[in-house]
Amino acid sequence: MADHNTPASDVVGVMDALRESTKDMHNETEGHDFQKQLGSGTVRQDRYVAYLGQLYLMHKQLGELLKRAASTDGRVAAVLAPYHSDLSAVSSDLEYFSVAPEGVVPIASTAGLLSYMDELARRSPLALLGFLYVLEGSTNGAKFMAKTLRAGMNLPDDRGASYFDRYGDQQRERWSHFKETMNAQGFNQSEIDAIVAEAKRLFQTFFDIGNELIATSSAVL
Ligand code: HEM
Repeated sequence: MADHNTPASDVVGVMDALRESTKDMHNETEGHDFQKQLGSGTVRQDRYVAYLGQLYLMHKQLGELLKRAASTDGRVAAVLAPYHSDLSAVSSDLEYFSVAPEGVVPIASTAGLLSYMDELARRSPLALLGFLYVLEGSTNGAKFMAKTLRAGMNLPDDRGASYFDRYGDQQRERWSHFKETMNAQGFNQSEIDAIVAEAKRLFQTFFDIGNELIATSSAVL
């Protein structure tokens, strides 16, 4: 007879659910023209700088909202690390291109995301972890992208593309730690579903940002 305390075989932890549910979206994002241009270091500089600006805005707002969420939810506090809200790499990359981070203006896709994040933080702050998953997970492929970006755009080792390798030698360790602490929180199914839904939303936004940047003429960026 089945033991009802034993998890059913289709019950998976939050990190397996995130990876499996967003696999197709990851592949589509990876295959997007804009990401391919980034990955091959052939991206137009004005688009690249505009992209860095959007990343800065996203990280800044998410970092602030997660810190607030951590003050009321111990599980968010357990997952959140100080380096998750460290903007120094993306800020110094922007400054390398003579852009002041505080002056960056969101493009439409980012503006939509930022106001959605505010709303989500009021309604379901725990689900913000779905956004953190996408940004943390992206450090896996981005590490290699940093090399091609530097080569293709003739950038120095330490500035211009440092965001993409912001964890340096600690990337694998930090990614493993993120996975472990997420899995250790014992999220229930509806919490997992909410986190997954927000991860999908951020993948979609990356796709939209790529489209928007490619469609925007240099006069506007
Ligand atoms: C040219 C573009 C990209 C390439 C080549 C790439 C490559 C990779 C690779 C190789 C991994 C697996 C690392 C491992 O398991 O050891 C990975 C994981 C991941 N990437 Fe990307 N990536 C790209 C773009 C992106 C973008 C734009 C995002 C999101 C903004 C993203 C989000 C993620 C996430 C969330 C994971 C973790 C998957 C998991 O749960 O195991 N990637 N990527």
